[in-house]
Amino acid sequence: MLQSKRFEILKERPVNKDGFVTEWPEMGFVAMSSPNDPKPSIKVKDGKIIELDEKKREDFDMLDQFIADYTIDPSSAEEVMKLDSMDISRKLVDINVSRAEILEISKGMTPAKVLEVLNHMNVVEMMMALQKMRARKTPSNQCHVTNTRDNPILMAADAAEAGLYGFDEQETTVGVVRYAPFNALALLVGSQTARGGILTQDSLEEATELRLAMLGLTSYAETISIYGTEPVFIDGDDTPWSKSFLASAYASRGAKMRFTSGTGSEVQMAGAEGKSMLYLEIRCVMMAKGVGVQGLQNGSISCIGIPASVPSGIRAVLAENLATTLFDMEVASGNDQTFSHSEIRRSAKMLCQMLPGTDFIFSGFSAVPNNEDMFAGSNMDSSDLDDYLIIQRDMMVDGGLKPVNEEDVIEVRYQAAKSLQAIFEEFGFPAITDEEVDAATYANSSEDMPQRNVVEDLKAAERILQDGISGFDVALALAHRGYETTAERIFSLLKQRVAGDYLHTSAIINKDNVVVSAVNDENDYKGPGTGYRLSPERWDEIKNIRQAISPRDFD
Ligand code: 5AD
Ligand code: CA
Repeated sequence: MLQSKRFEILKERPVNKDGFVTEWPEMGFVAMSSPNDPKPSIKVKDGKIIELDEKKREDFDMLDQFIADYTIDPSSAEEVMKLDSMDISRKLVDINVSRAEILEISKGMTPAKVLEVLNHMNVVEMMMALQKMRARKTPSNQCHVTNTRDNPILMAADAAEAGLYGFDEQETTVGVVRYAPFNALALLVGSQTARGGILTQDSLEEATELRLAMLGLTSYAETISIYGTEPVFIDGDDTPWSKSFLASAYASRGAKMRFTSGTGSEVQMAGAEGKSMLYLEIRCVMMAKGVGVQGLQNGSISCIGIPASVPSGIRAVLAENLATTLFDMEVASGNDQTFSHSEIRRSAKMLCQMLPGTDFIFSGFSAVPNNEDMFAGSNMDSSDLDDYLIIQRDMMVDGGLKPVNEEDVIEVRYQAAKSLQAIFEEFGFPAITDEEVDAATYANSSEDMPQRNVVEDLKAAERILQDGISGFDVALALAHRGYETTAERIFSLLKQRVAGDYLHTSAIINKDNVVVSAVNDENDYKGPGTGYRLSPERWDEIKNIRQAISPRDFD
């Protein structure tokens, strides 16, 4: 066959490197609606739910049981379930129906009912609803700070730079597991060099992650995974009850925590039971609500390749974000893994969360180059920062970030590296040389860093856990060496643990050390003129990009 020249060009386009599949409901390759999804139903007897979505209590799996006993309000469920799903969808979009009114309705809904409501909505309607339903009025953003060598000096400098850009939460993880305590330390010191109140986490195996939080080297956790079917849950040696226990352990020490789930995980682990991805994710959302955690990281997360391969999959990802907000929980809404070779496609996806605004638009914008991102790359990385800042300015939308200038970045990176150098000396860790400080100040990636002695570094990292070196010890060491401001900021974070205010839904801590959450910054969107609006100061910040020239200068 003679080839079309146009198709030849299309074939070479980046989007055609992406993977696409047709629907296969029996294996769960279906985004929002499978013929095997149950129909909504409920029966309550003596205050107990005895039938849920066509299943009798004796046939419940552990997820049904948990949701029936801890999430759904049996006193309102029968009334709510009589409401027409289409009417509920319309209420979600209607600016005259308040967020509070919707929250009352969702208390009585079953997973299949939520699914039906979301299936009536197109993406613009979902964005309208998300704008109204997200818990915190002010949107925000989270970033990844990692590097392939787990180089602590680079990590501290990168964390400081990300702090300047305005990320309210920063997340790291490890290449080599034994580096974990160093990474937590580097992220803490770097972030607090930029500004006080930035929350940090180190995503790890559960016991070590909890230990680091208890030591005060991190201030929150989020990758506590839950899944939408029983076999997949059990595969991880877990139950909703074991995850509840872990959640309580964080809360007991005043550390913020949220769960993680997302469409596609059950397909990936071959345990979807023929259900749609969104139905299974709604079960996760409702389990998280039942546990009582304040929030959820979802939006497919590390499984984004799966929903992105099926029809309506990116719509399903928006729908799961919205589902989380329906249950009055914070949503850290994904965009945190590479899913497409196409710049157009990854921008289109990202706008679904950026335009309405969520509690964390990215639950991991890569603040480092994607090839240094140990979470397998993000939907956007450090080389996309200018694009993102300019989209904020083009659309007059708050995406949680602010323009920075090069001199400030260089200065804060240097200060972070110097501070870590001082701490290493105070603790007797392998020395950080001035050459390393300089390299980290100007670096783009770990290739720009001198090699370190891995064996010695790992021994020192392990000493943090063995000796129980705490956030307080870090603050003392910094104060001892004259880094009083950073020391104070770390100490303030530790005091926040005792106050417990940042356990509230959607809590972040601003530069004045004040908790901003759904309690004191509740989303009150009811149409134009309400909800989150850019303040004149914030708009000035967003407008003021370094690339803009003044036409007056050419007068
Ligand atoms: N479902 C559940 N957990 C997930 N994670 C990422 N994606 C999902 C998902 N779809 C969690 C895993 C992983 C960490 C980065 O986030 O625990 O290790
Ligand atoms: Ca994250």
